[in-house]
Amino acid sequence: MKGKDIIILGIESSCDETSAAVVVNGREILSNVISTQVKLHAEYGGVVPEIASRKHVESIIPVIDKACKEANIELEDVDAIGVTYGPGLVGALLVGIAAAKALAFTLGKPLIGVNHIDGHVCANYISHKQLEPPFVCLIASGGHSHIVNIVDYRKQIVLGRTRDDAAGEAFDKIARVLGLGYPGGPLVEKMAEQGDEQAFNFPRVNFKDSTYDFSFSGLKTAVINVVNQYRQKNETLPVADICASFQKAAVDVLVDHTMGAASVTGTQNVCIAGGVAANKFLRKNFEIACSKADIQLFYPPIKLCTDNAAMIASSAYFSYIENEFAPLNLNAVPGLKLGEKHF
Ligand code: KG4
Ligand code: ZN
Repeated sequence: MKGKDIIILGIESSCDETSAAVVVNGREILSNVISTQVKLHAEYGGVVPEIASRKHVESIIPVIDKACKEANIELEDVDAIGVTYGPGLVGALLVGIAAAKALAFTLGKPLIGVNHIDGHVCANYISHKQLEPPFVCLIASGGHSHIVNIVDYRKQIVLGRTRDDAAGEAFDKIARVLGLGYPGGPLVEKMAEQGDEQAFNFPRVNFKDSTYDFSFSGLKTAVINVVNQYRQKNETLPVADICASFQKAAVDVLVDHTMGAASVTGTQNVCIAGGVAANKFLRKNFEIACSKADIQLFYPPIKLCTDNAAMIASSAYFSYIENEFAPLNLNAVPGLKLGEKHF
C-alpha cells in the first residue's frame, strides 16, 4: 500500500533570495516562491549582508503566505518545516530560521535543519524523478565549489573543494572588473558568446596532493592583470574575448576534476548543481565529457540551479523519512560543512 504523501514547507534565506516552497515527497513542487534582492545589491556590486537581512525580514512572511496560497494548502496541512541553517550569511540565515521555528512551535510540527549545499544537490531529485544515489555531484555556486560523492540520500563524501574563491564568485569578480554588473555569471556568459575562447591562455590550477580541489583566485588575478595592462596602455578592452577565455579556463577545471572524480568512484551518473550549473557553456562541455565516458549527466532547470526553497524542502524530506529532526533551539551555522550536523 502506498504511504501517506509527505508535505514539506521549505524556507531559504541564506543569501539574497527569500524563498518558500511546498514540496510533496521530496520531488513534486506545489509552489516555489522566490523574492530576489538582486536589484538592491547590484548597485554595490555584491551582496551587502545587513541589507540582505533587513530585506529578508520584510519579505519572509508574505513569501511563506504566497507559497501556501499557490500550493493551495493551509499551514496546518504541512508535515514538517525545513529551513536552511547554513552555510550562508548569519543575519540572513537567522531570519528564515526564526520564522521556521515560530511556525514549527505554533503548529506543533517537526523542524528540519537543512544544509544549503545539500539543497543544491537535491534540486536534481526534483528535476529527475528516477534519479537515485549513488552519483557524483559538482556543486558550483557563488559561495561553494564542491565535488561530492553522493553515496546515499543522507551520506555525502566530499572529494574536492575550492581552496579559495568559489566558481561563481570568480564569475562575479571578473564581471565587476569589466564593469558588466551583478550577478556576473549570466553577464559573463552572454559576453563570452561573442568572444574567442583561445584569445588568452588563462591558468588552470591543479594540485598534486589533492587532485579534485579547485583554486580560482590565480585565474581571477590573471584576468585582472590582463585588464590592467590594456587600461594602462589606454587600449580598448577585448571584453568578449576575456570573458570567453576566462569562462573556458573555469569550465575546463570544473569539468576535468568532476570527471576525474567520477571515474575514480566508477559511478554511472554525474549531476551538476548550484548557480554556475545554469551556465550553458558548462552544460555543453559536461555533455561532451559525459558522453565520451559513457556516463549519464543530470542537471536542474535554471530556476532550480540558483537559490530556491524547493530544493531545501526536498532535502528536508530525505531527513524527515530518516526521523532527523532539529530542536527548537536550532541556530545559524554560517560555516556549516557538508555532512556535518550542528544540533
Ligand atoms: O546557487 P546560487 O544562486 O547562490 C549561492 O548559493 O551562492 O549561485 C549564485 C552564483 C553567482 O555567483 C552567479 O554569478 C552564478 O551563480 N551564476 C552563474 C550563472 N548564473 C548564475 N555563473 C555562470 N554562468 C551562469 N549562467
Ligand atoms: Zn546556493
